[in-house]
Amino acid sequence: MTNSLKNLIHPDIKHVLDEIYQVSRNQKIQIYVVGGFVRDLILNKSGKDIDFVVIGDAIEFTQNIHNTLPVSEPVFFPKFGTAMLQYKNYHLEFVNAREELYDPSSRKPEVVQTDLLSDLSRRDFTINTLAMDITPKDFGKIIDPYNGISDIKDKIIRTPLEPEKTFSDDPLRMMRAIRFATTLNFKIETITLNAINNVSQRLEIISQERITDEFNKILMSPQPSIGLELLDSCNLLNQFIPEFVNAKGIEQKFEHHHKDVFYHTLQVIDQISLQTDKLHLRLAALFHDIAKPKTKRFSEETGWTFHGHEVVGEKMTSSILKRMKYSNEILNYVKKIVRLHLRPMALVNEEVTDSAIRRLLFLAGEDFEDLMVLCRADITSKNPKKVKKYLKNYEIVVKKAIEVEKRDHMRAFKSPVDGNEIMQKFNLEPGPIIGKIKKFIEEAILEGTIPNEHDAAFEYLLKNRACFK
Ligand code: CTP
Repeated sequence: MTNSLKNLIHPDIKHVLDEIYQVSRNQKIQIYVVGGFVRDLILNKSGKDIDFVVIGDAIEFTQNIHNTLPVSEPVFFPKFGTAMLQYKNYHLEFVNAREELYDPSSRKPEVVQTDLLSDLSRRDFTINTLAMDITPKDFGKIIDPYNGISDIKDKIIRTPLEPEKTFSDDPLRMMRAIRFATTLNFKIETITLNAINNVSQRLEIISQERITDEFNKILMSPQPSIGLELLDSCNLLNQFIPEFVNAKGIEQKFEHHHKDVFYHTLQVIDQISLQTDKLHLRLAALFHDIAKPKTKRFSEETGWTFHGHEVVGEKMTSSILKRMKYSNEILNYVKKIVRLHLRPMALVNEEVTDSAIRRLLFLAGEDFEDLMVLCRADITSKNPKKVKKYLKNYEIVVKKAIEVEKRDHMRAFKSPVDGNEIMQKFNLEPGPIIGKIKKFIEEAILEGTIPNEHDAAFEYLLKNRACFK
């Protein structure tokens, strides 16, 4: 592989880099492009985030960029010697060439300025230690003191210096190693992997927000099971989702499940990842069986059962997602899918009533399709005939749902009678009774006793007014 990336750089980016170079030349400061942008160029990917290392004062340099080029207002972090701004379509970040001196008892390192080579040496992985020259004479030339190019070519993740120290200094790097292994499909070199195992406990000093951020990137990769297995084998997963690790070794005796719950779940996540890029839905796949270990019972007739795991699972999901600092929007969505994930399977029978379908449409609302995506991904049988049969069953459910929805519009259900009108017509004061009346109508519509229409609902109320005396 050549060690000049000149020909891989898009003319728009070249133009931006030339302009940045001009400012650095006028200021007599050396700068280099570093990190993920260079790594990704070698992988033939072109990113919009460009990191620069400044041999000198990055804050002052960024201020000069701001005075010279039509860039956005910069954001400065003087304590870290970092500044960032937006230019054209690119997010540019400037950092002092620096070294961090760690005191093991503290999360906050002392930061000192240094030269390019020491700066590169303190970086996380060899694949991220490349620096690219942007001077006209050597534009695109790579400085590669730790054989990063050959590690990219060989798909290897290793630290440039002693791995235990690299991870102990900044334990988030353990999550990053697994994230890169998963998203790039690289192997973590054995010594580096052993080091993660040895210092895994250090993850406890990292904030949950940063752990969750890396975890999301693992979940959003093409095959998240790679990362989940690595997180588990390195004793990291049990530090932030011990409930999931408990699913290991829990056998399933359903007709179409032979694997333990942990491996079944990994397969479901990989399968769902082929169908969706929604983080929410991938999380739902991760949590759908989370309560199986807790609800596992043995029955002489049926073997192992997991009754109520969707209800207990909803509660567990809620507390885990809160702990992991996910938003309420994600929390409510994932809880709902976990709660409903067994319902469609129960609706495949010939004699299933419209009312059962209406209830599911009402409960799933706009997330009905997502629920069906999870149900299909939840089929992990190795027997192709069975897979075909289960998929066909779900097709039948969807067909019935489309028919019922066309007629009853349950997905965007809004009570056809409004509280004010109820109070007026029945001469009632505001209070819990109004909610009860609305619920009474909702039930009648779900049962199919009346259609989802205003006049029918009022007629029904008039007929049944004795119920509210
Ligand atoms: N870095 C590091 N240790 C960290 C975070 C970052 O050594 N905990 C270094 C790496 O050299 C990395 C660079 O800082 O390449 C920029 O970090 P960041 O933008 O977070 O990551 P990228 O490698 O650019 O990758 P991505 O954008 O995919 O996160």
